[in-house]
Amino acid sequence: MERGIQDIQTIQRVYLQTLIQPGDIVVDATAGLGRDTVFLADCVGPCGRVYAFDIQEEALNATRSLLVKQGLDPRVELILASHTELLTYVPNGVKAVVFNLGYLPGSDHQITTKASSTMKALNSVIKILKPKGIICLTVYRGHDDGMEESQTLINHFSAFSKKDFSVFQGRYINQGELSPYWIIIQKNREDIE
Ligand SMILES: C[S@@+](CC[C@H](N)C(=O)[O-])C[C@H]1O[C@@H](n2cnc3c(N)ncnc32)[C@H](O)[C@@H]1O
Repeated sequence: MERGIQDIQTIQRVYLQTLIQPGDIVVDATAGLGRDTVFLADCVGPCGRVYAFDIQEEALNATRSLLVKQGLDPRVELILASHTELLTYVPNGVKAVVFNLGYLPGSDHQITTKASSTMKALNSVIKILKPKGIICLTVYRGHDDGMEESQTLINHFSAFSKKDFSVFQGRYINQGELSPYWIIIQKNREDIE
C-alpha cells in the first residue's frame, strides 16, 4: 500500500482482502518471488490453504524462504509444475486465483507465461472456482509474449456472457499503451461449465 495505486496490484489486493475469509482455498498461479503467495497466505489464515505454482525451482525457493521468514509456510503447498496442471493438485471450491503474468524479475526473460498455457490454466480453474469467486490477472504488455497474451485475454474475455461472468479491467489512462493493467473475473453463479 506504500505506493498507493502506483502499484498496479493495490486495487486487486484491497478486494482480495475483503473477499477471502479464514479457511478459504486460494491459488497463486505464478509464485515468482513469493510476494503474492505471502499475501494470500496471510489472507487465508492458519486454517486456509494456498496452492502456489511455478515452473522454476529458483522461484519456489525464493517463495519458500519468504514464507518461512514469516512463519506462513504451513499454509502453503508449493508446486513445481505449470499452472496448466492445476486440476491435478487443487480441490474444488477455490475462492480466489492470482495470475501475475510475465517473467521472474531479474531472471531469464524467455521463461515467461504464454498466451496458450495461460488460457489453458484459466479455462481449467474456472471449473473449480466457487460462485462469486474471482480470478485476478496482472498483465504486462511491454514484451512480445506479453502483448500476445494480452490480446488473447481481451479477445477471449470480452466475449464472455455477462450473466455468467463479470469481467472488470483496470488500467492507467495516463501511462501509454504498453503499461500494465489488471483484469478481475468473477464467476457469477454455480452451474457454469
Ligand atoms: C511476474 S512473475 C510472478 C511474480 C510473483 N507472483 C511475485 O509475487 O513475486 C511470473 C512467474 O510466472 C512463472 N511462470 C511462467 N510460466 C508459468 C507456467 N506455465 N506455470 C506456472 N508458472 C509460470 C515464471 O517462472 C515467473 O516466476
